Amino acid sequence: MATTTTTFFDGITAVTDLPVENKKVFVRVDFNVPLEDGKITDDSRIREALPTIKHLLEREARVILASHLGRPKPGNTEGLSLEPVGARLAELLSAEVHLPDDCIGDAPKKVINDLRTGQICLLENLRFHPEEEKDDPDFSKALRDLADVYVDDAFGAVHRAHASVHGVARMFPERGAGFLLQKEIDALGKLLTTPDKPYVAVLGGAKVSDKILVIEALLEKISTLVIGGAMANTFLAAKGVNVQASKVEGDKLSLARTLLEKAESRKIDVLLPVDVVVGKSLTDSEGTVVSANEIPEGFMALDVGPKSVELFGKSFATAKTIFWNGPMGLFEKAAFAKGTFGVAREIADSPAFTVVGGGDSAAAVHAAKDGIAEKMKHISTGGGASLELIEGKKLPGIEALRR
Ligand code: 3PG
Repeated sequence: MATTTTTFFDGITAVTDLPVENKKVFVRVDFNVPLEDGKITDDSRIREALPTIKHLLEREARVILASHLGRPKPGNTEGLSLEPVGARLAELLSAEVHLPDDCIGDAPKKVINDLRTGQICLLENLRFHPEEEKDDPDFSKALRDLADVYVDDAFGAVHRAHASVHGVARMFPERGAGFLLQKEIDALGKLLTTPDKPYVAVLGGAKVSDKILVIEALLEKISTLVIGGAMANTFLAAKGVNVQASKVEGDKLSLARTLLEKAESRKIDVLLPVDVVVGKSLTDSEGTVVSANEIPEGFMALDVGPKSVELFGKSFATAKTIFWNGPMGLFEKAAFAKGTFGVAREIADSPAFTVVGGGDSAAAVHAAKDGIAEKMKHISTGGGASLELIEGKKLPGIEALRR
């Protein structure tokens, strides 16, 4: 059986090479979508899984979709049923989607057996069983009993050694990667193996502590490191800037200094904000632009300013590769969104191979509108997974697919 050729795919079978015709195919998808009052606010993860689902339906496979949703506490399933996901999927595919009330046992078996051509079975939230997160072999076996072939298309979950992405995969002699998983690994894998230079990494978000490993790994590869978001405060403070009431990780100042020294010794440019948008609290409805080293007493930096966007943008214009993870500020609030949206626009306008990490950065790119998302070369559907891949870790869900 043919396998794809990239290093990441050594030993992994592509879905197009799996014998799926008229078979029961278990597809692990990541339908962990954001919900507000029971309504899906971003259906990207569902839409991104459609090519694999359509491929299987066209081959008259019985498609069994499995996903987690949220992090249910034991015994409390409230608000975390996959029912709204099933409804959205049915709309997108114009197909009947059946949702048995459990993901293992007789209920799904009956639904699967009764499936008619073009219909889909969406299993109920895998995490309603605590055994899923424990990678429990009996639970894996119960999932295995539902199907003949296994396809993983849940890039967002491949960093979890959970039963449906790890334990069960190895129980299927016929297993492989769906189109989304292949696309993600191709794009993110390129950053790890053959990034064209200059390579600019743009990191933001709240905490330096979340990004230590990824910064360390990136320092081996990049030409320029752009830092924004609240984590920039810690770097500014480490350089002696008085950031006043801004959020700073006091216990990470020496780490920030070490990272800056490492970057300097490798001749990597580090760009920090030169101006910021400040407010007195996270709930302010207006912000003021000030120089990054002149934040007034009692104020905190909540976004990067226009001069910072311009400065960062210059590095994007000449870059050949850009990886972005983490917003530049509190973009969920209009008063503090301009920096993140401006950086998104500058990255989108760059001729570089542009990759956006999942999670908040993907949400920011979609919220920026103006066709910005369409201009990015790749927007990952996995937040934690894309970071761990860039860190160079082996991911359990990918390893389990190898022969
Ligand atoms: C995600 O949203 O990053 C994935 O679906 C994984 O979810 P988890 O962090 O709850 O495991």
